[in-house]
Amino acid sequence: MTATSGYTVETLRWKNDAIEMIDQRLLPGTKAYVRCDTAACVAAAIRNMVIRGAPAIGVAAAYGIALEARHLKAAFSGQFQTGLDQAFDLLAQSRPTAVNLFWALNRMQLLRRSLSPLEPFEITERLLAEAHAIHKEDIRINQAMGAYGASLLPDGARVMTHCNAGALATAGHGTALGVFRSAVAAGKRLSVIANETRPFLQGARLTAWEMVQENIPVTLITDNMAGHLMQTGGIDAIVVGTDRVAANGDVANKIGTYMIAVLAKRHDIPFYVACPLSTIDLTLETGADIPIEERDINEVKGFRECIWAPEGVSIRNPAFDVTPAELVTALITEKGIITNDRLMAKELKSVVENSPA
Ligand code: MRU
Repeated sequence: MTATSGYTVETLRWKNDAIEMIDQRLLPGTKAYVRCDTAACVAAAIRNMVIRGAPAIGVAAAYGIALEARHLKAAFSGQFQTGLDQAFDLLAQSRPTAVNLFWALNRMQLLRRSLSPLEPFEITERLLAEAHAIHKEDIRINQAMGAYGASLLPDGARVMTHCNAGALATAGHGTALGVFRSAVAAGKRLSVIANETRPFLQGARLTAWEMVQENIPVTLITDNMAGHLMQTGGIDAIVVGTDRVAANGDVANKIGTYMIAVLAKRHDIPFYVACPLSTIDLTLETGADIPIEERDINEVKGFRECIWAPEGVSIRNPAFDVTPAELVTALITEKGIITNDRLMAKELKSVVENSPA
């Protein structure tokens, strides 16, 4: 069976009993796929940024569990269950900040528990079907979010984004870039300003590439140019994705997002966050509770083979930051727009809990 997104950018696909993920470390220069048929391989691909972006790593993790089940399905039930426990642990340790990873693993775990009286081969089939369902749902969610988000952007808007919250960060369409795709499909003329997003350059390499592929006008800037563009009237709106939103509406996203949100407030520019409901973590009261991943210092020292920092310098590499809810104009979800007054009124929990499935 083959499960593909149908988008020009195929972030991940099920092919010949394995998942294939486009190697995002090599883009835009090289388009190559990494093939995984074990949970360990998927966990390594997530850790090493072959695949990245909150919803995409959730989908990959779900497939990781299904793949491990396929490996173990001929084993005795006890071995099968122990092997699956190990796969869940391994995948949960791959990256800490994006809650979508844990959301997807939790969904697979709940299904697995409900199936425990069944034989391993039957459980395996159901786990794989669930991973396919998560994959397909993610695209539908992004399209719904895109339609709501598009309604917020005026024709001719110059929209800034940070990092890559595109098709590459999801199963397809994207969250923030999905809003741009939907607006353009609805006939609006947009121009996108992509922040390069130091240190891993998701904006320069991935967002710019996706927009160029689709003929959506895109201008690349370095991160430290963002304030100047806002100050001189070059930006009408900002749309970013998110890795986790706390119950009070604080938003964790790629490092640098906080800086942009502060600047947006200073210049009275709307700051929107495209946020599937699975990215909202009601178990955490505020953004201060969100675990922030610290990545390898080599990502800051240079890029690929080019090293520019001296040996011996001390380096920090926090990969995410937290934007307080007060700076967020609105969350764009697949069920509608949640405006800042509702975030400030602490309504997020009830909005999420009362959203129809
Ligand atoms: O470190 P990354 O590239 O996984 O970080 C990705 C982001 O910060 C995205 O903005 C976020 O995951 C939203 S993706 C739809």
